[in-house]
Amino acid sequence: MERTLVIVKPDGFKRGLTGEVLRRIEAKGYTLASLQIMTPDRERLAQHYAEHEGKPFYQPLVDFMASGPATFAIVEGDRVVEGFRSLAGATDPTAAAPGSIRGDLGRDWGLPVQQNIVHGSDSPESAEREIGIWFPGH
Ligand code: CMP
Repeated sequence: MERTLVIVKPDGFKRGLTGEVLRRIEAKGYTLASLQIMTPDRERLAQHYAEHEGKPFYQPLVDFMASGPATFAIVEGDRVVEGFRSLAGATDPTAAAPGSIRGDLGRDWGLPVQQNIVHGSDSPESAEREIGIWFPGH
């Protein structure tokens, strides 16, 4: 069964959108396999975002992600990686299509990092790597 890692990022958590995001995932027909709420530590954020190291938004991204609690979910289902990315919408919440999580619930806040409510793994391989970081043993 394919899996993906979904994070309701600190902006979404603070705005009380965790339930709405999980509702959309379940309404689409995917299964929540594991859930945890925690403030992500910088060591694991550096592993998670290794591919972005050196980009101008890297440090603001890590600072933002470490700024408060977030909800981490392992989500299961056939083609769930692609399916959740479609549910989430485009990275830029201003441009994301209405109907998607970011398009319906997100906007630009004039900050150096795009606070776009959710993260979803970009491939099945990334999903397994990311699940290994945040859910060791799963
Ligand atoms: P995510 O898919 O979780 O992984 C990388 C994150 O970096 C992305 O979501 C956005 O929050 C942020 N991001 C990506 N591109 C940019 C950008 N050009 N400027 C600012 N933040 C970005």
